[in-house]
Amino acid sequence: MKNLAIFASGSGSNAERIVEYFQNSATVNIKLFLTNNPEAGVIERAKRLEISIRVFDRQEFKSETIVDLLKENEIDWVILAGFLWLIPKNLVAAFPNKIVNIHPALLPKFGGKGMYGHFVHEAVIANKETESGITIHLVNEHYDEGAIIFQASFPVSSEDTPEDVARKGQVLEHEHFPRIIEQLITVK
Ligand code: GRF
Repeated sequence: MKNLAIFASGSGSNAERIVEYFQNSATVNIKLFLTNNPEAGVIERAKRLEISIRVFDRQEFKSETIVDLLKENEIDWVILAGFLWLIPKNLVAAFPNKIVNIHPALLPKFGGKGMYGHFVHEAVIANKETESGITIHLVNEHYDEGAIIFQASFPVSSEDTPEDVARKGQVLEHEHFPRIIEQLITVK
């Protein structure tokens, strides 16, 4: 059995999709949600889905507290699904090539510190891009710089708003993220 922990800072729609995708799996267990945001929508989703959730603060995240919690729960893979903090070196070191992130743009474009959520979609529109998309990548200690595992794109029209870009991206995220995670877990 592979145990997964999912980190989210916001709504958690990707986290819920992942739970749904693996709910009948004999080999993958979504064991724990974690969030840095006590107001996050993912907390309500965890309650409804009956998944344990741990709210933590920056001090806990930077210390060994969260790494220890993941080890105590025998976590094999760490999934970042809309998690906004940089992953500290100790967590990267504890899960080498076992931390996966999804970014709502075609990295390396529109990535890096501060490029999340609406900031990404606004930049895509401001740059008059004719396409955008999603990137699923392994995580190292730099924002959005790990090895790219998967990308999918969609057209952006001149009439599109940042909200349109976000909506098109979320459709692709929900369609691909769980399946790519499954591929990664199965291969490695
Ligand atoms: C997604 O757009 C993802 O690409 C980005 O954060 C958002 C999370 O959305 N990293 P949700 O909380 O899973 O609904």
